[in-house]
Amino acid sequence: MRIARTLHRLERGLLQRYYGFDRWHIGHAGERYAADIVRCLNGWPEADRQSVVEIGCGLGDILRRLHFRSRLGLDRDPRVLAAARLLSRFHRGTPPRFDVFDFPKALPSGAYNAIIMVNWIHEVDPDQLREAIDAYFTRYLRPGGSVVLDTVDDPAYTYNHDVQRLAPAGAVTVHLGRYGRNRDIWVLQKAATNT
Ligand SMILES: C[S@@+](CC[C@H](N)C(=O)[O-])C[C@H]1O[C@@H](n2cnc3c(N)ncnc32)[C@H](O)[C@@H]1O
Repeated sequence: MRIARTLHRLERGLLQRYYGFDRWHIGHAGERYAADIVRCLNGWPEADRQSVVEIGCGLGDILRRLHFRSRLGLDRDPRVLAAARLLSRFHRGTPPRFDVFDFPKALPSGAYNAIIMVNWIHEVDPDQLREAIDAYFTRYLRPGGSVVLDTVDDPAYTYNHDVQRLAPAGAVTVHLGRYGRNRDIWVLQKAATNT
């Protein structure tokens, strides 16, 4: 276990030196919240696992483990995306697609069963974030789909969001779990039919 972790850090360290992305990505693969998101979404019925997008996907550690027909990873850092593409080549099956995307300037395209935004939205102004989540919910989320996001309760972060203020009207808010640094993961579900 320790050897595997050391090799993993070594691999990430080499990638970081080559591509020059943020050093955060060296030590943070395999976080417990990531495993729980993967377990939760992979537990959905196959019909509800058609398409997923992760905004702020980093090296794609969550996305690569998701069993969805179509997987799209978006990030504002082209260096981390280049490394994510390389890592995906060593996994079986159709690799996820990765694209540069600068939130909130860029807009997604397509319709998704799941939209994931975790471990970076603490840098986004709450009003701006709420507006974007509202738009994603209405325009890019399929009926019955979910936005998965996190909030933190730690003064070291720029914003400690309140999930009740972020959730669009009519969303069902499910708490997935609490993790280090008082990080909560939330699944905001959209109604299955447009009534
Ligand atoms: C801390 S990493 C988290 C990666 C992944 N979501 C996870 O939880 O394992 C944050 C990622 O979000 C990206 N990011 C931060 N702000 C962003 C923005 N405004 N638009 C798109 N990506 C952003 C960063 O480039 C970085 O790769």
